[in-house]
Amino acid sequence: MINRTRGVAALLGLAFATAGLAALAQPSAGPQTGIVFRNTVTGETLDIGQGKEGGRDTDAVKTFLQTGKNPYIDDKSCLRNGESLFATSCSGCHGHLAEGKLGPGLNDNYWTYPANTEDTGLFATIFGGANGMMGPHNENLNPDEILQVVTWIRHLYTGPVRDAVWLNDEQKKTYKPYKEGETFPKDVKGQCKPLDN
Ligand code: HEC
Repeated sequence: MINRTRGVAALLGLAFATAGLAALAQPSAGPQTGIVFRNTVTGETLDIGQGKEGGRDTDAVKTFLQTGKNPYIDDKSCLRNGESLFATSCSGCHGHLAEGKLGPGLNDNYWTYPANTEDTGLFATIFGGANGMMGPHNENLNPDEILQVVTWIRHLYTGPVRDAVWLNDEQKKTYKPYKEGETFPKDVKGQCKPLDN
């Protein structure tokens, strides 16, 4: 009988110990993002909550903030939006095809900041800015819109497909770069709703 009681006590003890460990392993309260985004130049942590409202609770942004994977890559509805957002916010300095103008080209495999090879790095540069004329864009683009711009910049890429680390092997096989004159109908189906304007 004594043995049995001890056994139960030991089991209970184990259960408490495990529960304790699980409690310790839980992240503290507050919004959690899987990925810590940093300013491209200073390395300071970026607060993704700051800036233009909205665009933080879409499935794509949630996935991106957790995993760094961009679910919009190759989605025509997001390319359509990204093209328009890029034309308004970026092409004046970076060129219509991101070929470079006042700012550097964004359509080849050379990056001043190698972190921009990854979609997470490109997102951080757009959100938090870089040097000089490249200011932060989080006041005029919300995270979902930034992800659409990232998607469009990747679509303008003209470098070797093997260096396109933002595509998985399957996507590399079917990757079709931008062609001049290509258009996306307003009602094209996909994850991105047409922009308001
Ligand atoms: C007022 C001009 C201007 C605007 C508008 C602008 N940029 Fe820039 N951008 C620059 C300049 C200049 C640099 C170089 C800054 C540096 O090297 O730190 C730059 C750098 C960059 C880089 C880093 C490139 C590399 O080689 O690592 C990225 C990415 C970028 N811009 C994306 C964008 C996107 C996307 C937009 C629109 C949302 C945008 N920029 C809007 C001027 C601009």
